Amino acid sequence: MDQKHGRTLEEIRAEIGDCKRCRLCEGRTNIVFGVGNPHAKLMFVGEAPGRDEDKQGEPFVGRAGQLLNKIIEAMKMKREDVYIGNINKCRPPENRPPQPDEVATCIPFLQQQIAFIKPKVIVCLGSTAFQHLLKTENKISHSRGQWFEFEGIKVMPTYHPAFLLRNPDAKKPVWEDMQKVMKVLKTA
Ligand code: URA
Repeated sequence: MDQKHGRTLEEIRAEIGDCKRCRLCEGRTNIVFGVGNPHAKLMFVGEAPGRDEDKQGEPFVGRAGQLLNKIIEAMKMKREDVYIGNINKCRPPENRPPQPDEVATCIPFLQQQIAFIKPKVIVCLGSTAFQHLLKTENKISHSRGQWFEFEGIKVMPTYHPAFLLRNPDAKKPVWEDMQKVMKVLKTA
């Protein structure tokens, strides 16, 4: 039995079904549930699917995703070793940030995924992931590089890879943050 606590990933996906719980269903092509190792020690959480993710039904497959893959490889891991999810599972129109009611509707499913996977570390990619998972209004620029906690799991906020594409200077602090993550994973 693959169940540690609560629902399995398959059960969570089944409960989501052909979701019409919020308005984001109107513009989506695919629900982007999450991908990766169900027993991952490391989980990445982003904001919401973009155009490529909506088309393919998989998180972080566009340009930002390719950069995330590079970050994962620099950490001496493979994309298949980690688990990747988002705060919202459907693409917001024009890639706007999800609105508070849309987050409130969708985030319980991510929380159930986290409860099943029980990673040692969650990396929040960007302010939407950080602020909504940790229910804080702290800024990502002030909080990145510091450890937080969600349900007993260590959380490291860092910049979103899409931000890195526009601001290559921010790659250095992200790499510093990922080195802190690697250090914790070594002892996990
Ligand atoms: N940006 C995100 O936050 N998530 C994705 O899945 C893709 C781009």
